[in-house]
Amino acid sequence: MKVVYLIICGAGPAMHAVKFVQAAHAAGWDCHVIATPTGANFADLDALEATSGHPVTTEHRKPGTPRRDRPDANAVVIAPATANTICKLAAGIADTYALDVASEHIGLGIPTLVVPFANSALTGRAPYKRAIATLAEEDVIFLEIPEHKPHHGGPISEQFPWREAMAKAAKVATT
Ligand SMILES: Cc1cc2nc3c(=O)[nH]c(=O)nc-3n(C[C@H](O)[C@H](O)[C@H](O)COP(=O)(O)O)c2cc1C
Repeated sequence: MKVVYLIICGAGPAMHAVKFVQAAHAAGWDCHVIATPTGANFADLDALEATSGHPVTTEHRKPGTPRRDRPDANAVVIAPATANTICKLAAGIADTYALDVASEHIGLGIPTLVVPFANSALTGRAPYKRAIATLAEEDVIFLEIPEHKPHHGGPISEQFPWREAMAKAAKVATT
């Protein structure tokens, strides 16, 4: 069975992330969920664990404790991806477990799809634009969604393309 890791960041669509797990299962994939600490505040962790059948991981294991028993990923999806995590990922910063997992998988050449969700004030800034270009140079794939102004993310949040993200991940995944 193929495996996709879903990495959830702290933006509105995170509360609907169970839709991605459902799409993965419908496609016959196993899905393991990782969240940034802020993403975990937005997400329904109980629903994600019940639906995926796996714990949601938000923190590094304690040094000296066993590795997590998790199968290797055929694809990684970062969704919703905040401006914060996108900029840090591009800069090589790994100060959350989620960023560490994303960084390592990009470094390993595992197909990684980013679905940003950030308002136009954030995406219009130079650091964000540089981050997108840097990640694209590393073969990170982007699924773009319509732009929204600050404080207008609510309705778009509901239309977040979870199924499209899974379909794209399946297309680019390792075999
Ligand atoms: C209610 C609320 C909504 C937010 N929505 C977004 C968003 O849509 N996009 C974004 O990039 N940041 C958003 N933020 C800010 C991020 O949560 C913040 O930058 C945080 O540090 C991101 O952490 P993470 O990237 O580790 O998940 C929001 C914050 C709050 C409190």
